[in-house]
Amino acid sequence: MKVNILKDYEEMSLATSQLIIEVMKENPDGLYCFAGGDTPVKTLQLLVEAHQKKIIDLTKAYYIELDEWVGLKQDNTGSCLSYLNRNLFAPAAVPQSHIHHFDSLSSHLDEECQKANEYIEKHGSLTLVLLGIGENGHLGFNEPGVDFDNKAHVISLSSTTQSVGQKYFQEEMVLKEGITLGIRQLMESEVMVVIANGVKKQNAVRKILQGEVTHMCPVTIINEHKNSYLFIDELAGGQNENFN
Ligand code: F6R
Repeated sequence: MKVNILKDYEEMSLATSQLIIEVMKENPDGLYCFAGGDTPVKTLQLLVEAHQKKIIDLTKAYYIELDEWVGLKQDNTGSCLSYLNRNLFAPAAVPQSHIHHFDSLSSHLDEECQKANEYIEKHGSLTLVLLGIGENGHLGFNEPGVDFDNKAHVISLSSTTQSVGQKYFQEEMVLKEGITLGIRQLMESEVMVVIANGVKKQNAVRKILQGEVTHMCPVTIINEHKNSYLFIDELAGGQNENFN
């Protein structure tokens, strides 16, 4: 794992986007997976800018959704798909045929998982995954205690994720379950990039940097990836005396 501690959110996003741009130049038609959430917003904006300047071509790449809230309409602005449409796919005019996403309203979520698994298998593997970190150390919706051998699966969301997740919605939501790619698939990616900024991510970042891999903090698995990068700002990398 290569650790990069940047001054602030802007610098973290810039450095992250530069790495992704280099990978995309080498693998323009690879399979990419970008997390939703607050952390990647600026990175995605910089990728779109690079696309507009013709440094990369985002329309050539393929994409698979990392995760989704179960039971949510896709046009809900808090859905992961709506986020990716807003921040990446629409501004870069990515063809729909290049995007694979979960139908989290399906009454056959096991089939949705199977379709995601097959999409990745069809492409060989994920070229690059860009992941944020949950306050509880989750990766995608791989919550503490998850089986690291899982492929795509449905999971009960922890109380932390249920309450932190409210920030994406205009009104109070019931967020009980998520559907997510599994740690095994993320670990088989050619490049794993994890980003985090701000004090709320300090505990999870510290656990990563301690080097121990634990199911109770899934993001620590980054330590075992063959080609992984951690980009954090100084706040996320800071020491927290209240850590336990
Ligand atoms: C979202 C996702 C989550 C977030 C994580 C951090 O698609 O997979 O794992 O990356 O919860 O969210 P933010 O960036 O909002 O702090």
